[in-house]
Amino acid sequence: MCGIVGYIGHKNAINVLMDGIKRLEYRGYDSSGIAFFEAGLLRGEKAVGKIVMLEEKLSNHTYNSHVGIVHTRWATHGAPTLENAHPHFDCHNEIAVVHNGIIENYDYLKSKLQQNGHTFRSQTDTEILAHLIEEHYLGNLETAVMEALKKVEGTYGIAVISSKDPEKIVAARSGSPLILGIGDQEYFITSDVSASLEHTREVIYLDDNEIAILTRDGYKTKTIQNIPTYKKTEEVLWNIDMIEKGGYKHFMLKEIHEQPQALHNLMRGRVDGHRGPIKLGGLINREKELLEAKRIIIVACGTSWHAGLVGEYMLEELVRIPVEVEYASEFRYRNPIITKDTIVIAISQSGETADTLAAMREAKEKGAIILSICNVVGSSIAREAGSGIYLHIGPEIGVASTKAFTAQITALYLFSLYLLQLKNNQSSVAPDMTAAIKAIPDKMQAILDKEKEIAEIAEIYKNTNHALYLGRGFNYPVALEGALKLKEISYIHAEGYPAAEMKHGPIALIDKNMPVIFIATKDSTYGKILNNIEEVKSRGGKVIVIATEGDREITERVDHVFHIPETSNVLIPILSVIPLQLLAYYMAVLRGCDVDKPRNLAKSVTVE
Ligand code: AGP
Repeated sequence: MCGIVGYIGHKNAINVLMDGIKRLEYRGYDSSGIAFFEAGLLRGEKAVGKIVMLEEKLSNHTYNSHVGIVHTRWATHGAPTLENAHPHFDCHNEIAVVHNGIIENYDYLKSKLQQNGHTFRSQTDTEILAHLIEEHYLGNLETAVMEALKKVEGTYGIAVISSKDPEKIVAARSGSPLILGIGDQEYFITSDVSASLEHTREVIYLDDNEIAILTRDGYKTKTIQNIPTYKKTEEVLWNIDMIEKGGYKHFMLKEIHEQPQALHNLMRGRVDGHRGPIKLGGLINREKELLEAKRIIIVACGTSWHAGLVGEYMLEELVRIPVEVEYASEFRYRNPIITKDTIVIAISQSGETADTLAAMREAKEKGAIILSICNVVGSSIAREAGSGIYLHIGPEIGVASTKAFTAQITALYLFSLYLLQLKNNQSSVAPDMTAAIKAIPDKMQAILDKEKEIAEIAEIYKNTNHALYLGRGFNYPVALEGALKLKEISYIHAEGYPAAEMKHGPIALIDKNMPVIFIATKDSTYGKILNNIEEVKSRGGKVIVIATEGDREITERVDHVFHIPETSNVLIPILSVIPLQLLAYYMAVLRGCDVDKPRNLAKSVTVE
């Protein structure tokens, strides 16, 4: 939701902080700000808009500082203005705070602080933290932070510095990710490892209710109740070029093209040989529970929810186990019925989505068997689930999720085969089932090699204001995903629907100005979808079709067709989504949109 970086060490803090926060800009970018020490003075600078605006303000002066904190914001309370940008300061500008999360009881705390004479400058919830710490300061910064946080309800990842206790950064987390980077006599606190990766790969993941105290001489971790904690350091497996654009114009395009390699990385060591066996190390020691499970619930948000919907169709078809997919934000508030033989799978690329994390905790509390499918190692959802499947596809930086979607579906497919192995008490699965998934990366590449065809279609429809995506069966979730991709990066209103549902209302939208994108691959519903295409054509609609290679019949019936290679029914979504990712990308670029940082969005929604 927001990005935080703190640094204390021997390097120029301004350079380290600004380089680091630019790597977190995808987390939120409506305003930013920095606070640092120079010659014992606490200095600060803020800017509205993207981080480059803050850089311009800082360029007027050469600072020599070794301690500082910086923040990039995705507004939750208060518009993106200079006053509301972080860091926030106490009454005397001696304490600076940056925050990611939401303080639920900030109204109450703010009124108490105002009664005690504190004056506020912003409409944010965060500012109360600076005044609360000020109120509890008795000579030691971490003690003041601990005392202040005991009064706070809500979620936070914070970093605090103060001229009253200089050469120190205090960080604390509850519900929003914070990672400690351990360098060579230098220390970092970040919302995401990519911000400190060029300096160190050694990290510590803070847990909820923990604080970290960083000084030039080292670091300590404790609970908010002042009990020391001893954390193991972990090595980050990503490297710098994985978080660079690699010559692509946007991270999103890079990640679309990375998909074949991403799936190779995901399958490595899990699908060996042509008969398997499928090996999922993250599920070791869960075999008995998985065997006895009678039902699966998938909780997720956004694109991950769409992947979960593919998972429902896949698991029910292959494993014949009842599956339901729930929006995490709905599931968590409706007192769901959970039994001990219910598997709940939390799907989340970032592993930090607040609604998904909360839904998983709710299911855990009710006794479900908890699994996660995440991409970010050490993320909150992955750690709290304890078991699951990591995607291992490298960082996904573009706000619009692409390679994570196809990887999540692949992980669900491997999970389906794994359950089949368990249920049939076999050490392998049918060769055609492993062969089908192992053939997918090359088929993805064949699609990517034809991306120019999609760019040409995008050129024709770039000025449309609406679009309808229709699919049946396994392609229904793909229709939803295609619509989400288009709307979130090109700002075109787009809807995804089951194709048969069109006649129950959406058909009223059809006219010559409404492009309708059908995913009409050769599967069990093909004949029916041809009828739906006719229904649109007979009303003057423009039809774009994703069809199966060799399907010439459909070509005559529509305005544009893009062919994709054949594959097994359950794996079609991994292929049929790629032209839709590219279509959204090219239309957004042609419309001059900021593809990697779309307006109003953030990569990881760590607030509810
Ligand atoms: C997808 O393109 C969006 N950026 C968004 O819907 C995203 O999928 C959703 O916020 C869930 O994120 P997660 O997978 O990190 O939990």
